[in-house]
Amino acid sequence: MSANPRFIPPIVQSAIAGISDGAFCQKILNYGAGMVTLGGFSIDRESHLTTTRMIERGRDEFLLQFKVDQVKSWCLENLNLEKQTNHQLVSFNVRLINADYFSEVWLNEVTKFVDIVEINAHCRQEEILKINGGHNLLLKPEKLETLLDSIRKLLPSFPLGIKIRGHIIGDYSGLTKILEDYSISYIHVDAMLPGQKRANIKIIRKFVELTDIPIIGNNSVRTINDIHTMLKAGAKAASVARPLMQNPEFMQYLVSDYTGRIADESNNNTIQRNNKR
Ligand SMILES: Cc1cc2nc3c(=O)[nH]c(=O)nc-3n(C[C@H](O)[C@H](O)[C@H](O)COP(=O)(O)O)c2cc1C
Repeated sequence: MSANPRFIPPIVQSAIAGISDGAFCQKILNYGAGMVTLGGFSIDRESHLTTTRMIERGRDEFLLQFKVDQVKSWCLENLNLEKQTNHQLVSFNVRLINADYFSEVWLNEVTKFVDIVEINAHCRQEEILKINGGHNLLLKPEKLETLLDSIRKLLPSFPLGIKIRGHIIGDYSGLTKILEDYSISYIHVDAMLPGQKRANIKIIRKFVELTDIPIIGNNSVRTINDIHTMLKAGAKAASVARPLMQNPEFMQYLVSDYTGRIADESNNNTIQRNNKR
């Protein structure tokens, strides 16, 4: 994969902990998504233990094996996805606060199967925030930098994306500078507008103005018009999560509506060109 991924079609499935496992993502690939996102998975010891506590209070989460001799077989069993086209991409969303021995073992193996590792700087679960993970990485950029530094030492050239929560960022240009310094391949922006069921498109525009890193626009994308709004704002793709939880087939509907429209538009353009001749 090149340093700057292309999302074809520009419709992507966003991570859903406890739901988007290999079988789920395979379905979404079959429905034609430009990229699927496995996970999120907690891959360092501290995030793993924290996730165990979140499961105990009833939250639906994935819990990985922490027996290192089983990592390889788990990957073989769960990450062998079949793409429908050469363009499709598979991303692996990870929660970690430092690159310890366990996360190194996981990253070394997972990167044999997926196209991109997506770092989760988005989670807002209390337990994860308490250990300075999730979106607290955005509030403490020095911690994000240290984390990216240690991941880059382990994976010097493997494509890394990042998932972020847009509305809590104070210093946008400081953040994009860090992400450029660590050659991040895409920024997946949850442009949530707190209290409303629509995205804050200004946040997407802000990132597009600040950086050449491809932006994936996320939050409340429900219709083909929402996808076009994200793309017009300069995002290279739009992503969807919650509607797919009950109805993975929704991806097929979006993809065929989008590709149908693109076909319609190019037919109209051809007709218009022919009429002018
Ligand atoms: C149950 C659930 C689990 C989620 N798990 C993750 C996760 O593990 N990693 C992540 O980056 N985002 C996670 N998200 C956030 C979604 O990927 C997405 O950003 C958010 O739901 C907004 O997009 P939507 O309006 O299309 O649902 C989760 C969302 C839900 C509802």
